[in-house]
Amino acid sequence: MDYLEALQKRYSVKKFDKGKKVPPEILENILEAGRLSASSMGLQPYEIYVVESDEVKQQLISSFHNPSQISTCSHLLVMVSKNGLGDEYVDNYFKHISDTREIPVENLDLFRKNINLQMDALTNEQIMDWAEKQSYIVLGNLMFAAALENVDTCPMEGFNGKSMGEILNIDPEKEKVSVALALGYRSEEDHFQNLKKVRKPEGKLFKFI
Ligand SMILES: Cc1cc2nc3c(=O)[nH]c(=O)nc-3n(C[C@H](O)[C@H](O)[C@H](O)COP(=O)(O)O)c2cc1C
Repeated sequence: MDYLEALQKRYSVKKFDKGKKVPPEILENILEAGRLSASSMGLQPYEIYVVESDEVKQQLISSFHNPSQISTCSHLLVMVSKNGLGDEYVDNYFKHISDTREIPVENLDLFRKNINLQMDALTNEQIMDWAEKQSYIVLGNLMFAAALENVDTCPMEGFNGKSMGEILNIDPEKEKVSVALALGYRSEEDHFQNLKKVRKPEGKLFKFI
């Protein structure tokens, strides 16, 4: 599908068709788009929880302000961001670069110093802000990939992160639920699919300089 057509067709689904599941191979492609997302310094300071279990989805329903998507979606993706990375995380990252690109880890010393400098200058709260921004790039890519795969979505930040964190066993000292993405196929009953898109006209959005 043409990508502009896919973006026109997509909308934030309020009710999915409960009987339709996203096939595993399509889910895999969408997740791969998330995995390939760019992130600041390549650190990917987040994890993506893929909630397939109906039981866990059921438990999560009460955490959402508007739960109709959660009770009907095929899968729920939850972006969990980190407020600090720690030495071990950064060590593993550099080992991964070194192994993947077949270069000695010492060649990356300057880059490593740079990362340490930048991280040391930030509070945990600032690191969390930064990490959450990165997770929204993943969100955008997942939504776009899903649209191209003809899979419907609803991005969601209308939830109680604390109760979600408890259900998902997230350590509140280190991590935070940033944003969620429900995946599935639109229900015919969802009248939102018939509404026209409301977007700023080009003249109000783009400033050509
Ligand atoms: C980061 C983000 C969070 C959102 N949170 C919710 C939400 O919690 N519940 C909901 O029904 N829609 C949510 N939306 C959907 C927006 O309301 C929707 O994208 C916007 O109105 C544009 O409509 P469209 O996506 O249908 O084109 C969210 C969208 C984004 C990008």
